[in-house]
Amino acid sequence: MASSPVSKADFIVVANRLPVDLERLDDGTERWKRSPGGLVSALEPFLRSRSGAWVGWPGVPDVEVEPFEDTGVHLHPVPLSAKEVADYYEGFSNGTLWPLYHDVVAPPVYHRHWWEAYVRVNRRFADATAEAAAPGATVWIQDYQLQLVPAMLRERRPDVRIGFFLHIPFPPVELFQQLPWRTEIIRGLLGADLVGFHRPGGAQNFLWLARRLLGLEPSRGAVGVRTRPGVVPNGDRMVRVGAFPISIDSAGLDALAHDPDVQKRAQEIRNELGNPKKIMLGVDRLDYTKGIDVRLHALGEMLAEGRIDPEDVIMVQLATPSRERVEHYQQMRDDIEGLVGRINGQFGKIGHPAVHYLHQSVDRKELVAYFCAADVMVVTPVRDGMNLVCKEYVATRHDLGGALVLSEFAGAAAELTSAFLVNPHDLDGVKNALQAALDVDPAEGRRRMRALRRQVLTHDVDRWARSFLEALGAQEMHNA
Ligand code: ADP
Ligand code: F6P
Repeated sequence: MASSPVSKADFIVVANRLPVDLERLDDGTERWKRSPGGLVSALEPFLRSRSGAWVGWPGVPDVEVEPFEDTGVHLHPVPLSAKEVADYYEGFSNGTLWPLYHDVVAPPVYHRHWWEAYVRVNRRFADATAEAAAPGATVWIQDYQLQLVPAMLRERRPDVRIGFFLHIPFPPVELFQQLPWRTEIIRGLLGADLVGFHRPGGAQNFLWLARRLLGLEPSRGAVGVRTRPGVVPNGDRMVRVGAFPISIDSAGLDALAHDPDVQKRAQEIRNELGNPKKIMLGVDRLDYTKGIDVRLHALGEMLAEGRIDPEDVIMVQLATPSRERVEHYQQMRDDIEGLVGRINGQFGKIGHPAVHYLHQSVDRKELVAYFCAADVMVVTPVRDGMNLVCKEYVATRHDLGGALVLSEFAGAAAELTSAFLVNPHDLDGVKNALQAALDVDPAEGRRRMRALRRQVLTHDVDRWARSFLEALGAQEMHNA
């Protein structure tokens, strides 16, 4: 990574985090590592292939880092103090907006000083972006942490074209209305030329709120997927509002899954697990929306009822540490680890646990090896904007093996209809779906996987980004 002179960029991604996080090691040295989460997984390969700039936080408090270049992308770090991390990131972003936007599955907390920090930090991002943008640049602002940036940036730089994409669900209006600062958020988003959501329902909710909270006159027709955007006349501008389901670098993952080293590692993983008949796999950030507890409860009951034999079926749960200072996350970690301990205490044997739980992030190749080794991929969020893990699994199964159990409450369920779809609130339904996936007839399994792969390989992240940028009118970018 080289420090580079600050140049103005024609295309800028703005996100809470840079694609790399600064990590401070115990020996006092520092290194950059890939940031967690779906946003970076999706956008980083896209931007790397185009050369643009990325404005974001370097992931640790109280550091001032000069702009630098990383594999062709100009990174512009935005500093946050420890207090701002607590109030803007852990507080308003992840203690207020995250639970509110995920159907209030945990109670959102409303603190005025968190909101004030959110406004202050959004302003800093808008300033940094205004500084980095070339005249007439295209700026693509990402996610719920930065919903005020579109309007703030427009004030500073009316010459730039602004897109905004929300990577998490946009909630039903009855829930959004709880937010004391609901009008300010809608006004902030309306600073963009195009506001994008994963699903038409989110776009529809937003259009309704623009009418209700701001008295504007949005279009009334149904919003389509990548087509028929809604329109909100806002002063002398038209804001378009659309649905653009995000995806993954499908070809890249498919290629990785063909790598003989990865296939060898997949076999090693099976051997290390004692060559069980079936391996079930969960891969998530350790987040209470992901329904990790749901699948553990289902597994525990299936073992207790003798529906599955712990000699034959093993579960592996990879859980990336996430937002560890936020209270709901601490509580949930204790719950999950308690559940794992109880299941292993009851059904495990020395050297042969029923659940292998790793509170760790693994690298890309290792992750693909896990996907290739898994007979059943279990994705059971109680609410998820899209969920990329399920698409990643499908992209790696060129052998047409494996089965996907997927929650209806993940945005991906609308596209991956050949999965074993489940309602994560219906424990018996989840158990039945796991059973069906474990026992699926090989020909039926291949039929399902073929259909899933057709969807994921044709609708990749490149297509997502191109369709958004095309709708934004940034032709030169989507043609790059
Ligand atoms: P979110 O954005 O909420 O974290 P997604 O499913 O959309 O959820 O994206 C998660 C991303 O993080 C995926 O690219 C997935 O492969 C990656 N990931 C999740 N858990 C792990 C893990 N334990 N090790 C490595 N990568 C992980
Ligand atoms: O889309 C969900 C999201 O919050 C992204 O904005 C982020 O990249 C990812 O999850 C990981 O979360 P965090 O940045 O809070 O670790």
